[in-house]
Amino acid sequence: MSGRRPFVAGNWKMHKTASETGGFVRELAISLPESVEVAVCVPFPSLAPAVEAAGGTSLRVFAQNMHQAPQGAFTGEVSAAMLTDLGVDGVLLGHSERRQYFAETDAALAEKLAAADAAGLDVILAVGESEAEREAGETEAVLARQIEGARAADHADRLTIAYEPVWAIGTGRTATPELAEAAHRFLRGLLPSWLGERVRIQYGGSMKPDNAAQLLAQPDIDGGLIGGASLVAEDFLAIVRAAA
Ligand code: PGA
Repeated sequence: MSGRRPFVAGNWKMHKTASETGGFVRELAISLPESVEVAVCVPFPSLAPAVEAAGGTSLRVFAQNMHQAPQGAFTGEVSAAMLTDLGVDGVLLGHSERRQYFAETDAALAEKLAAADAAGLDVILAVGESEAEREAGETEAVLARQIEGARAADHADRLTIAYEPVWAIGTGRTATPELAEAAHRFLRGLLPSWLGERVRIQYGGSMKPDNAAQLLAQPDIDGGLIGGASLVAEDFLAIVRAAA
């Protein structure tokens, strides 16, 4: 890895209730190595208990989505100000499940990225090709389109990219370290050089304790976005240690 500080984030998706959150977050937060940045991306009802439980520790708390407007008639949505008011550190944007099931578009994501940035929230922007797109030789075009909104980011320190090939998410089919490294290098090269050198690019898609070290050893893989394995404290912490 480069001079970039590794960043490992757990994406709980729609798992764990608010009352299950505090104890779990405390268990994670007591044993974090200083050399790795660690975050949990939790469902909206778990944000307040997660912020409270992580208080005074280095563990960071992210939401899994937000709306781009500051307020308004958007039933069921949550604004950047609602997140910062709770003490939330950042937001995961553009996860493939949101693109696939909730019609998240690159245009809306560009607006969300700007709104999060203006509110002082860190962003993990998730990108990645589907199996059909990879087979059709479209991977690079898809990644280039999805990362377009990030090219204008003002605050590289607050932006992280997560490369998550859709075919590897929740399937147990991890990308090989070589394939993942090639995608990460390609993504980094799409960014202006000042940004590309500094931005961290996480790998996501069936990263587990037994394959994390190999993936994290690649020069352009700066951490992980962990789904299933982030729900078990021992597994998540093993991945964090592999990044240290
Ligand atoms: P997974 O999910 O680790 O369960 O494959 C990763 C993600 O979707 O962020």
